Amino acid sequence: MIAQHLLDQIQDRSDIVEVIQRVVPLKRAGRGFTAPCPFHSEKTPSFVVSADKQIFHCFGCGVGGNVFSFVMKYEKLTFPEAVRQLAQSAGILLEEDEEFRKREDSRQPVYNAVAAAAEFFRMELGKTPTDAPIQKYIAKRRLTDEALSKFKIGYSPDAWDSLLKKLAKDHGTETLLRAGLLLERDGKTGYYDRFRNRMMFPITDLKGRVIGFGARVLDDSQPKYLNSPETEIYHKGRVLYGFYEGIEAIRRENRALIVEGYMDVIGCHAAGVEIATAASGTSLTTDQIRALKRFTSNITVLFDADKAGEAATLRGLDLLVEENCNVQVASLAEGHDPDSFVKEFGAEKFREQLDAAQPLFDYKYQFLTRRHDPRKVEGKSQIAAEMLATIRRIPNEITKDGYLAELSRRLGIAEDALRVELKKSASTPRAIELSQDDRKMPDAASVPVSVIEKLLIGLLITDSKLWGKSRGRFEDGDFVSEDARLVAGMVLQAQDWTEVQPARMLSVLHDRENLSLLVLQAVHQAEIVEDSSKAFEDCLKQLDEARGKDRLKRLRDAIAACEKANDIDGRNILLRELNETSRKGKPNGTEVQIKS
Ligand code: GTP
Ligand code: MN
Repeated sequence: MIAQHLLDQIQDRSDIVEVIQRVVPLKRAGRGFTAPCPFHSEKTPSFVVSADKQIFHCFGCGVGGNVFSFVMKYEKLTFPEAVRQLAQSAGILLEEDEEFRKREDSRQPVYNAVAAAAEFFRMELGKTPTDAPIQKYIAKRRLTDEALSKFKIGYSPDAWDSLLKKLAKDHGTETLLRAGLLLERDGKTGYYDRFRNRMMFPITDLKGRVIGFGARVLDDSQPKYLNSPETEIYHKGRVLYGFYEGIEAIRRENRALIVEGYMDVIGCHAAGVEIATAASGTSLTTDQIRALKRFTSNITVLFDADKAGEAATLRGLDLLVEENCNVQVASLAEGHDPDSFVKEFGAEKFREQLDAAQPLFDYKYQFLTRRHDPRKVEGKSQIAAEMLATIRRIPNEITKDGYLAELSRRLGIAEDALRVELKKSASTPRAIELSQDDRKMPDAASVPVSVIEKLLIGLLITDSKLWGKSRGRFEDGDFVSEDARLVAGMVLQAQDWTEVQPARMLSVLHDRENLSLLVLQAVHQAEIVEDSSKAFEDCLKQLDEARGKDRLKRLRDAIAACEKANDIDGRNILLRELNETSRKGKPNGTEVQIKS
């Protein structure tokens, strides 16, 4: 974590125009600058940089953000990396840098030990005679010399202490233990090698440093794979196998392929499909997806044939949807995994399978219609439930809407009915938790941010006078959508207007993609109005009206949902709230009786 005051300081000293100009030729246009967008190909420039607001935005492809986001996107860096880089060119010393350096220094011996181990396993493989089991296995799996050297594949000898003997003198058993290479003997009488008689797959980080190993048996014994344990340098939920080796291709093709195993990654790369990568020994995690997303959000997932037949596997993909990825699914003929497929049918046929990948929505729909009959009511409802589970995760409201309409068309079910289902299942488990805060409605998250709410936020963060006037006139709870409410909360609770200027908001919200997007859209809305004071008053009036109607409607929906789910407590809490709301609305409103 880098302290917000440091982020502010770095941002103040890094002029976005200057930073972007170093890599993109900017042309002056009014108070800002334009250029052809560096993030998508286009002829007429729709990329604009605002010097006053210190933000950039492309009206063509929708990317945008502040100086940190630009450096992240352009240089493919993580947020801390981008901050560090800008701090350096602004001549600001980060205490975190010092800490970071110390931590890296203390880890250095572990990196060295793991690198030495990888080297050792390579050497040992080189020493084995052609009739050794490992060599026979390599031949059987048709691993070429090229693949062996690209992935630095090695062999851990069939002995208890070959690595220990070789590396203990230079690295010390303490460090080898920290590196996950040794195990302690029972009774603490000494150590022995963790990896024995296995084919060794070094796992690298994005700097190409080896951080751990996957290790496969040479026969059918169990466990088939052993992985390095979690160490200070190896976190299995954060790395992807083959990512470092594939990064250039992923960048070039603007797509990544996720496969299941080490051998699949190697088989794909050998067949020229270098965008292949795999989570090793875990299901895909959010950290891994975010790492991929620095390079591409187009993800194709390729399942082994046996796994493609499981609904649970498909459900795993919802995490990708949630992270705003564009997900395609490819599958292979019965009994094949990518490695065996490539070997049997060749690279060309394999590429054809990838080209035939379908958007997750279509793939899942087809999959479900094979299990449930879409012409029967029961079938429709099963399919709808599974599809809604995915649709619900889509962060973008417009995309979500599009898929709802599509599902409604395919199943012949009214969109409204699907919408009720969508809200119901999302709200029931959380009904009580959320309604205890009277400003939150169970399904607020599914309410799209209206133009009015965006415009109002935009006006507040671009106009200090209006921000000053807003105090006491309304509060964040007046905003209908959850996203708008969160952003409005920040804006209204700020001590000083400078805290909520767009570039700073974006720095505070750097890890909240949807909220950042909302800020950018809000700024854009505010920029296109002529008379901002009048727009402000209009917004307040409309917000007021919408708020009253909306609260009542959503409370009623939520109550109905609770009743359907037999959630009596949730319903009572909401009923009480409904009473209060309608009493405020009209002084003599009749109370709704609470049954129990
Ligand atoms: P082959 O069977 O040689 O084709 O290897 P594979 O990499 O294709 O393995 P498989 O499809 O069986 O499994 C996919 C991935 O799951 C592997 O690459 C491993 O990361 C992981 N995995 C499989 N078996 C084990 C196991 O026994 N232990 C652990 N920790 N991970 C395993
Ligand atoms: Mn496999």
